Amino acid sequence: MKAEKKHRVCPVEKAGMLEHPLRRLYESPKRILRPFVGEGMDVLDFGCGPGFFTLEMARLVGPSGHVTAVDLQQGMLDRARKKLERAGLADQVAFHLCRADAIGLAGEFDFILVFHVLHEAPDQAGLLRELKGLLKPGGRALVAEPAFHISREEFRDSIALMKQAGLVAGPEPRIPFSRTAVLRGAGDEKVGNRDAGEGTAAKK
Ligand SMILES: C[S@@+](CC[C@H](N)C(=O)[O-])C[C@H]1O[C@@H](n2cnc3c(N)ncnc32)[C@H](O)[C@@H]1O
Repeated sequence: MKAEKKHRVCPVEKAGMLEHPLRRLYESPKRILRPFVGEGMDVLDFGCGPGFFTLEMARLVGPSGHVTAVDLQQGMLDRARKKLERAGLADQVAFHLCRADAIGLAGEFDFILVFHVLHEAPDQAGLLRELKGLLKPGGRALVAEPAFHISREEFRDSIALMKQAGLVAGPEPRIPFSRTAVLRGAGDEKVGNRDAGEGTAAKK
């Protein structure tokens, strides 16, 4: 696959596909997020798109937690914000417009979701280094890439970049049509996983 095709950013006009009701059948946000996200956690939805996962993240962290939703397209953030407003949960979410080459966020998170985003980044190595810096000690990141678009070999290359960025790739949760990895910072073995329910007070 040509590099320019792989790095093409999903346009806002296709956001409706990401919110299709059928998607919940094979990518249920609750089922995917529940092992990682619990009350009071401070979590990041990186490349949030129209907020398909952001909404469930806000529900799971509850009023004592906080969600940061990041995207490089204002149109996606606008759609995500509307969705959270309709659900009465927008106050728990910060919406952050980033650049393709820099997230530009300070702080640390208990959990970071990177769902079907990594292959769209022109500099995966740089992005992974930046994401590593945003993980709390003991925090985890879930990376999922679309299997119909990213080959096994390409995902293996991404895992190598994750290791170079100082991340350890752990178990691979089964998500239909996705290649997955759970990441934590190298050297975090003694800190233990910050499992759902062990969240720290959110910074707002
Ligand atoms: C295929 S969509 C997935 C959206 C969402 N994660 C989901 O699963 O519904 C990819 C999203 O990542 C965003 N994106 C792509 N490259 C990005 C980058 N370097 N930084 C932040 N967001 C990015 C796109 O704007 C788009 O909203």
